[in-house]
Amino acid sequence: METEKKELNQVLFKPFFNTEYLREEDLYLYDTPVPDYRFNIIGTGLIGQEHIQVTMLEGHGTIHGIFDSSRHSLEYTEEMFHRNYPKQPLKVYESLTEACNDPEADALFICTPNYSHMEVVREAVKSGKPIFLEKPMVTKLEDAVELRNIAKDYPAVFQVGLQYRYKAIYTEARREALEHRSLGQIRNISIVENRLPFLDKVDQWNKFSEYSGGTLVEKCCHYFDLFNLFAQSTPKTVYAVGGQDVNFKKFERNGKKSDILDNAYVTVVYENGIRCSFHLCMFCPMFYEELTICGEQGRIRAYENENFLPGAPEHTHFEMHCADHRPSIISSPCYPVTIQQSGHMGGTYFEHKIFIDNLDGRKTDSATVEDGFWSVVVGIAAEQSVKTGQVVEIDKLLAGTL
Ligand SMILES: NC(=O)c1ccc[n+]([C@@H]2O[C@H](COP(=O)([O-])OP(=O)(O)OC[C@H]3O[C@@H](n4cnc5c(N)ncnc54)[C@H](O)[C@@H]3O)[C@@H](O)[C@H]2O)c1
Repeated sequence: METEKKELNQVLFKPFFNTEYLREEDLYLYDTPVPDYRFNIIGTGLIGQEHIQVTMLEGHGTIHGIFDSSRHSLEYTEEMFHRNYPKQPLKVYESLTEACNDPEADALFICTPNYSHMEVVREAVKSGKPIFLEKPMVTKLEDAVELRNIAKDYPAVFQVGLQYRYKAIYTEARREALEHRSLGQIRNISIVENRLPFLDKVDQWNKFSEYSGGTLVEKCCHYFDLFNLFAQSTPKTVYAVGGQDVNFKKFERNGKKSDILDNAYVTVVYENGIRCSFHLCMFCPMFYEELTICGEQGRIRAYENENFLPGAPEHTHFEMHCADHRPSIISSPCYPVTIQQSGHMGGTYFEHKIFIDNLDGRKTDSATVEDGFWSVVVGIAAEQSVKTGQVVEIDKLLAGTL
């Protein structure tokens, strides 16, 4: 209990107090906890760096080493690490094999671009170490099936980076809709994402469907994971329309034109009859995402909103209307500032806590390879539907692959 109190102080309060002037032996409440696990980060771009910072913030793990195929990324991250954590040693590996097989590392975080996940995983699983693999777990159906088979017999933790489920608004929605069953039987689920275009990336892999799997796989697997979670069923049919109407229309690299969707509508019907709709638009001057769930006894609407306008916009909102069945709720679910600002509105922090729980052998609701599989299957089906104009039946899509 005492240890937990100290850990909490470290995360929530230490950034607000000056402890620099104290001698090591005078640190107690704000002493850095001794980490239980050492992680190696493979791929040190945007999300690799977020995992480094969140690992160090959360405190049960530490960063042991890093590997990246780009010298620039590796040197930048090494410098950033020593600047932010001057007392911490850091190994910099020369090869993927070394990074995967160092006996001093307890777990591997795979944070490389989508198209490389399978190749890196094939090397990483030889180590038998616990693996955290970023989303989307793969970009192609045959790889999704191969990875699902690998994970079935894998002797250690294998977690996928679908952390939106831990954002405060979705955590609240899951508690009300799934645990408390406050809406009664769920019938319809809708998600909207309106946001800025895809960010710049190392080698701009996210501008090309060949490397990212396409927008509906790359970005939207997060939302399809939420559909799958709330529907508690498997997808039956997927129909989608979309286009590249505004973003990156003139973007070329090595003579190749960008070919990714920047807006789409996707409908998913589940085996249990639940109907879902997803609207994506990536040429909006904001980050806005909204979930609506309609059940037989009520409705939830929850959103996150960052719109860059003057004044303080409400960042999170949750409302549940339950008529005369039970109390309704209106709230702004949030985490402490340090956690919320550490990445993806605190989602990444909580997926780290849950990864630690998995390593410790506690039962969790983390995203498994099975969850990663279904989130990617819906994305691949949606990309296919946009191209063909046809409804995609999931059993036909998967026929012959399982
Ligand atoms: N969970 C989330 O919310 C979230 C957010 C952002 C990115 N991601 C995912 O994380 C992954 C990385 O995205 P990013 O935004 O950090 O991209 P990025 O381009 O910023 O960084 C990727 C890094 O991987 C390196 N790399 C490429 N191939 C490699 C290989 N074979 N071995 C080692 N290093 C290699 C690159 O040099 C680069 O430094 C993608 O799969 C992306 O979809 C997830």
